[in-house]
Amino acid sequence: MDPYIAEWLNLILRFLHLITGIAWIGASFYFVWLDNHLQPPPQWKADKGIKGDLWAIHGGGFYEVAKYQLAPEKMPTTLHWFKWEAYTTWLTGFALLIVMYYVGAESYLIDPRIADITQIQAIIIGLSVIFGSWLVYEVMCTTKLADHSIVFALVLFILGAGLAYGLTQVFSARGAYIHMGAVIGTIMAGNVFRGIMPAQRALVAAVEKGETPDPEYGRKAKVRSTFNTYTTLPLLFIMISNHYPITYNHLFSWIILLVIILITAAARHYFILSHFGKQRPMILVGASLATIALAIVIAPKSVESDAVANIKINTVEHIVQQRCVSCHSVTPTDDIFKVAPAGVLLDSQQQIKQWAPRIKARVIDAKDMPLLNKTNMTDMERAQLASWFSSGAIIDAQGKE
Ligand code: HEC
Repeated sequence: MDPYIAEWLNLILRFLHLITGIAWIGASFYFVWLDNHLQPPPQWKADKGIKGDLWAIHGGGFYEVAKYQLAPEKMPTTLHWFKWEAYTTWLTGFALLIVMYYVGAESYLIDPRIADITQIQAIIIGLSVIFGSWLVYEVMCTTKLADHSIVFALVLFILGAGLAYGLTQVFSARGAYIHMGAVIGTIMAGNVFRGIMPAQRALVAAVEKGETPDPEYGRKAKVRSTFNTYTTLPLLFIMISNHYPITYNHLFSWIILLVIILITAAARHYFILSHFGKQRPMILVGASLATIALAIVIAPKSVESDAVANIKINTVEHIVQQRCVSCHSVTPTDDIFKVAPAGVLLDSQQQIKQWAPRIKARVIDAKDMPLLNKTNMTDMERAQLASWFSSGAIIDAQGKE
């Protein structure tokens, strides 16, 4: 695919994915909030079967919302379902995955230092992992396991840990993260499609016929909505994780991912408990402390040594020309990147100076630049850049600094 067209597709799909994702997660946050704030209704509403109500003001109008104990006496003519938010989020996300990681497999998915696979192999592995994991989950939902939420969650977490490890053994670091996200997102959208929607349809059908709904449907849907509740925040993290190589570009990236999944799921647990009137702020404190601890544990080790003291800008410029400007230039020579990625130009000393803090972040701390180390940068060169940086990132072009 022409890189220019791929870039536009990427932009449009990402934009749509963001909008649909906000609609999906926004709606589910809103309903949790609603449930949280319902108050006992006045008697005349209670007589109609209303369990709780609330008043709100928004956008210049008053809103009155009521939740029924079970269902209204008569079905309203229009009933809003909230399912396309989920389906379109999945569809746009999947399309984005294809454009970015499958069409662009060479840049983002395959890391020859990890596994020297072909584009076709990478795509087959990726798709099998996504749909295979979904299938395993669906089968698990039909077993007795689904009745024991704690055990179910534990088994899922162990399987997830195995998956996270496995993915980091075949894909690039960020490709592994995004596939973990694709698996979780597919299961979540599948939960809506295979569990939550059928349960709601059964409820509506029962009410229309004046029967009591089969509790079996509600019970089955419960496992699925619980899964979606706890994976929302982990999934949101994975969606933005590709901006944070400090997390994915680490030797133990899969463990880091699991820790972040636990931290974010715990944060969600706090809000769920408060839904039942239990205030446990220590959970949030614990999650914050765990985040700080994680940041400390994975902090990059210093790569400087005495052997590389006193590095001058000329040496740095030489390294950057050899290792970076094939991509980061007004006129890139890379076979894939024809426009400087992220708008980062490193053709002159001034530009190197301008980008120095980000160069430190990506080359010295996260070590994910050069991308997949395509230009074979050595540890020695990283140490030289680190030394230049720690002595003030000085450029000496005739007193300009
Ligand atoms: C094979 C092409 C390629 C090479 C070589 C390369 N980069 Fe990058 N660089 C990218 C891509 C693609 C992005 C944008 C994606 C991203 O941010 O992960 C990027 C983004 C960046 C960013 C901006 C992101 C931010 O966090 O602000 C910096 C800074 C950067 N590269 C520095 C470097 C340096 C320094 C080198 C040389 C040591 C280098 N790159 C070599 C492809 C490359």
